[in-house]
Amino acid sequence: MTQRNPSVAAFRCAGCGHASPRWFGRCPDCGAWSSASQQQPADSASAQILSLAVPGEDQARLPTDIAEVDRVLGGGLVAGAVLLLAGEPGIGKSTLVLQLIDSLLAGGRATLLVTGEESVSQVALRARRLGAALDSFRVAATASLDEVLAAAALEQPEVLVIDSVQTLEGSALEQPAGSVVQVRECAAALARHAKATGMIVILVGHVTKEGTVAGPKTLEHMVDAVLTLEGERTGALRLLRAGKNRYGSCEETGVFTMTDHGLRAVGDPSAMLLADRRTGEAGSIVFPGLEGTRPVLTEIQALVDDSSLPQPRRVAIGLDARRLSLLLAVLHARASIELAKQDVFAAAAGGLAVREPAADLAIALALASAHVGVTIPPCVVAVGEVGLAGEVRRVPGLPRRLAEAARLGFTVALCPRGVERAPAGLEVVVVDGVRDAIDAAAMVGPTGASAQVPRGAMVQVGTL
Ligand code: TYD
Ligand code: MG
Repeated sequence: MTQRNPSVAAFRCAGCGHASPRWFGRCPDCGAWSSASQQQPADSASAQILSLAVPGEDQARLPTDIAEVDRVLGGGLVAGAVLLLAGEPGIGKSTLVLQLIDSLLAGGRATLLVTGEESVSQVALRARRLGAALDSFRVAATASLDEVLAAAALEQPEVLVIDSVQTLEGSALEQPAGSVVQVRECAAALARHAKATGMIVILVGHVTKEGTVAGPKTLEHMVDAVLTLEGERTGALRLLRAGKNRYGSCEETGVFTMTDHGLRAVGDPSAMLLADRRTGEAGSIVFPGLEGTRPVLTEIQALVDDSSLPQPRRVAIGLDARRLSLLLAVLHARASIELAKQDVFAAAAGGLAVREPAADLAIALALASAHVGVTIPPCVVAVGEVGLAGEVRRVPGLPRRLAEAARLGFTVALCPRGVERAPAGLEVVVVDGVRDAIDAAAMVGPTGASAQVPRGAMVQVGTL
C-alpha cells in the first residue's frame, strides 16, 4: 500500500503514544525499548470525520476531595487533562500539591510526585508538617524529562505532579532548564503522554510579579486548565482561581488561609474578612463584592490627612489606583468634596484585593465619610459603579450580593437601580448619584431607620 502522506505517523509507542513516521528501537519520548508498533495506514490521508452524536468517552471526574479545589475545577480532575498551577515563588504551590496528593492517596488514587527543586527529605519534612500519610507517597527527585517519562510509564500513576516545570530538562535540547524552549518542550512531551495514556498531569509553574519569565505564560495554550494561586505573601489569605478551564467555568474562586499546617479552606470568607472590623470610625463602609460567583463582603477604608507635600499622596491598597483618582475627581466635580491638598489613603481591609468597578460607591462613601469625619453606621453596605457624571450605575449579581449582606446582619444597602426584591431584613435604598448616596448615608440612623431620608434623593424599593 502506498503512503500518500508521508507525514502521517506510521509507528506509535505502546507506552506513551509517541508517534513517528519511522520505526524506533527505543522510544525517544518515554525511553521504552521495542515499544513501537505499526499503525494501520488509513485508506486516504483524510482525517476521520465523526458526528458529535458519537458516544464519546465519558469525561468522568476524579474529585480531589479538597472542596475548594474541586469547586474551581468544576467538580474534579478529568482523565488525560494537563493542568498548570501557577503562582509567585513562596505563595504555597508546593504545599497545595502535597495536600492534593495526600487527599488523592486517601481516596485510593495512585500518584507520583516529581520534585526538581527540593530533595526527597525536604518533601518528607514538609509532608510530615502537613500531617500527610508518608508511607504511600511516591516521590522521584529528578530534573530529567526522560527519567520522568520512564518513571511515569513504569509507575502508571493516575495523577503525575511535576514541581516544577521550570526545573525539567529534555536531553534533546541544548538550552538550560527554565528556558522557554525547554519549558515548552517538556510540557508538550508530558501533554502527549497524558493524552495517550489518560494520565492526569499537574505542572507547577512559577511566575514573577510581572507574570513573565519563561514559563506559565508560554504554556497557557498547551494545557487544559490554568489555576493560579494568589495572595499577598505577608498575609495568610490565598485565592485559587481558574484562568482557563476546558472542563468547567472560570468563575469560581477557592479561598484558603496559610496556617502552620498547610492551606486550610475558608468556609465563610465574609465573616473572616470582617472579623477584625472596628466600628464607629469615620472612613469605613462594607462592600458586597463578588469573587467569581461567590459573594464576599469586604470593608473599604479611607483616611484623609493634611499633606505637607506639593503633590499630596494618593495610596490605594488592594484597590485600583486609577479608579481612586477618578473617584476623587468625581467627588470634587459632582459633590463639592475637595481633597486636592490632602493625602488620601484607601484600602480594602483584610488582604483581599477588590478590583471591581462595583466597589466605586463604597470607596466614594468611605472617602466622603473620612473627609467630613462622620461615621457611617456599621449596619450599612454600599455597592454601585460610579460614572464620570457622578451617576451610580448597575452592577452584575446584585441579588447575590444583597443576600450575603442580609445573611451577615447588615440592615441597609445603598444600591443602584435594578433591585426587584430586597432580601428579608435588609432595607434597600436606591441611589441615583454619589451626592444622593452621601446624603442617604448621613441620614441612616444607627439601626437603619431611614424614615428621615428626604424623598426625591432616592427611591426605596424594599423595607423591613
Ligand atoms: P511553598 O508551598 O513552598 O510555596 P511555592 O511552592 O509556591 O514556592 O510555600 C512556602 C511558604 O509557605 C513558606 O513561606 C512557608 C509557608 N508554609 C506555611 O506557612 N505553613 C505550612 O504548613 C507550610 C508547608 C508552608
Ligand atoms: Mg515550591
